[in-house]
Amino acid sequence: MKIAILKERRPHETRVAATPETVKKLKALGAEEIVIESGAGIIAAYTDQAYSEAGAMIVPDAATAAQTADVIFKVQRPMASTEGVDEMALLRQGQVLMSPLGALTNKDLVQALASKGVTAFALELIPRITRAQSMDILSSQANLAGYKAVLVAANQYGRILPQMMTPAGTLAPSRAFIMGVGVAGLQAIATARRLGSIVTATDVRPATKEQVQSLGAKFVAVEDEEFKAAETAGGYAKEMSAEYRVKQAALVAEHIKTQDIVITTALIPGRKAPVLVSEDMVKTMKPGSVIVDMAVEQGGNCPLSEFGKTVERHGVKIVGPANLPGELATDASSLFARNLLNFITPMVDKEAKALKIDTNDEVVKGTLVTRNGQVVHPSLTAQQN
Ligand code: NAI
Repeated sequence: MKIAILKERRPHETRVAATPETVKKLKALGAEEIVIESGAGIIAAYTDQAYSEAGAMIVPDAATAAQTADVIFKVQRPMASTEGVDEMALLRQGQVLMSPLGALTNKDLVQALASKGVTAFALELIPRITRAQSMDILSSQANLAGYKAVLVAANQYGRILPQMMTPAGTLAPSRAFIMGVGVAGLQAIATARRLGSIVTATDVRPATKEQVQSLGAKFVAVEDEEFKAAETAGGYAKEMSAEYRVKQAALVAEHIKTQDIVITTALIPGRKAPVLVSEDMVKTMKPGSVIVDMAVEQGGNCPLSEFGKTVERHGVKIVGPANLPGELATDASSLFARNLLNFITPMVDKEAKALKIDTNDEVVKGTLVTRNGQVVHPSLTAQQN
């Protein structure tokens, strides 16, 4: 089995899908060869030399890395020629691709992978079961992103976060409001608390109330009958009704006026992010307050946020980070690479030193999107009908 790791070419991407640590472990697992495109890890501080010392073979370009590989690891879905770089051209029939694909929304990409005869696993679809926690790229990256979002907000905020008593007088503590308490939100709460903010948080899933309180923050939400049923079996939020959204907006509008830092993380899988902070709400916020919209890539929780930019609107700084985990490239790559190692491990037949894909396995079923020239994932085939 030969595994290739390519340099990521999407704008804003700094991470890499394997580290010297996982190279060693993949070799021990049965990978005869790990091929790394030269410079693939350099932005994340993993040098060619370190990979080479770990047992990888360094090759000069992506085409050489990909051409004889059985398996390709990536951090970002392959780019199509229309996106400026043709990474799809690197893939060939019979290869296995393990990468986040955004498969539920990028249907053309999934179809193109099927047409090429690539066996593709969409890592964002890893089921949220206990056994798969160590493979969960969404969690590992969201965790780091939640932490970094607070630091980004702190940098943009013209005041300090904790209360500080000085001979010149006391500075008041900041108020941070975290909207959406999944993995990123929980880490943002913990980080903002560590930095001394008074933290409140909101979500539509009832389970989050206790989690928020256990981190020493206050829970603020519309807790009606719809709220009680807002969590899907998969642990994600449902899209809320128009009626709920009106009630939620009224509550948020009242609360947000007094906040200094707002971090929004609310997502609904396969859909546009819900709008939680309207322009009217921004107008009522204090001058100098900061919003970090972590959902900006999925359309944003605030309509004023702009992808990859920090803008000032109505006296409020609104940050739309392009890639927060990528701002912590070394750690984010390290966790991502371990997720991939844990994902591939059960699929490797150690004696044959080859991949043996068990389509009855729950994790395989959840993530396998194309095989034998077909789109095979139930969520995608159902959508096609
Ligand atoms: P996510 O990234 O899909 O969404 C972030 C948060 O936004 C969620 O908490 C969601 O409830 C919230 N949200 C969605 N719509 C909202 C709205 N209109 N207003 C306010 N908040 C809204 O979520 P993430 O971080 O992926 O976590 C989802 C769940 O999965 C959590 O319960 C988490 O603990 C669980 N989980 C389970 C794992 C496992 O068992 N292996 C691994 C990771 C997460």
